Amino acid sequence: MFVKNCWYCAGWDYELVLGRNEPMPRRIAGEALVLYRKLDGSVVAMEDRCCHRQAAMHLGQREGDCIRCMYHGMKFGPDGKCVEIPGQDHISDKARIRTYPVVEKDNWIWVWMGDPSKADPELIPFAVGPGDKNWKIKTSKISVRANYRLEIANLMDLSHLTWIHRASLGGTDRWVTTPIKFTMLPRGVKSEFVLRSVPAPTFAQHVFPTGMLFDIDMNVDVTLPCNFILHFRAFTAGTATEGPSNGQLILDSWSSQAVTPVDEDNVEYYYSWGPSIATDRPGLADLLLAGVNQAFAEDKAVLEAQYRNMKERPDGNLVNIVHDAGPEKMLRLLDRFLAKEAAEAAREANPLRRAHR
Ligand code: FES
Ligand SMILES: [Fe+2]
Repeated sequence: MFVKNCWYCAGWDYELVLGRNEPMPRRIAGEALVLYRKLDGSVVAMEDRCCHRQAAMHLGQREGDCIRCMYHGMKFGPDGKCVEIPGQDHISDKARIRTYPVVEKDNWIWVWMGDPSKADPELIPFAVGPGDKNWKIKTSKISVRANYRLEIANLMDLSHLTWIHRASLGGTDRWVTTPIKFTMLPRGVKSEFVLRSVPAPTFAQHVFPTGMLFDIDMNVDVTLPCNFILHFRAFTAGTATEGPSNGQLILDSWSSQAVTPVDEDNVEYYYSWGPSIATDRPGLADLLLAGVNQAFAEDKAVLEAQYRNMKERPDGNLVNIVHDAGPEKMLRLLDRFLAKEAAEAAREANPLRRAHR
């Protein structure tokens, strides 16, 4: 189940380059799309399904800003309207393919999967992309064979850094014991972490003298469907026991992560991490990316095996513990949006109610 009135990340802008021969297929929230760039550089997102006999449009051929289905040759404009039927003069108004609103922001391509009249670009989450001159952001992506609810639960409970990421982002059990301040957002949850006098993450410990400790301030916004925007700052360990760290800022960084549900069983995970220019050092951005690459391979192994177990025994044990509080907040919010859209769809389907609106 997916929220339709929502922006979904379709990938990094560099994955869809002007001049590319083949239109790019993507599956988002259970729907097959094809994406391509027009000559002016803007992106078209169209249903990957010809309106004649449902041939896949990504197997078609670009012709300027148009795309031709290469089964029987129907040609469509970037608005989805058919402009040519070889061997037939009349073109019905019904001969059109659905298109989707698209916005490029922070080097991500965002597609609105719901009612186009509700596609408000202000709903796209804040992020810091690799094109931002004030930050040195490196990017990557990974595919995970799991339902996106498991990703939400994973990202809303960072106690797992201690366990799953003991060899990468972990290195302390303080991720288990540190209280988290949660604040509800209109379409998500903000989590604030304050850790004092903790070791460096395992992947970076070799950089520092043995036993060196740090203060960490971390803010995370998780928004629908499953976007995770992290502001991570590390200081040398100070003496302040309350309020801001009085240590020296040694890393100011952003990690922007968009987990896009492909269908019920798969996600595409587009992510980045990088330091501010002011706290950058040679090789630091690569070190951070290597750390997060390792971490997400660790998550992938755990979540895919967990998902296989859950599919095998949907009625299996699910005992709650204290660390489920964060996941519950975001999953309940997701369920509220799903229920609201289901109620709206039911209302639309009921002619009596429609007539008495
Ligand atoms: S299926 Fe596309 S033209 Fe026939
Ligand atoms: Fe993780």
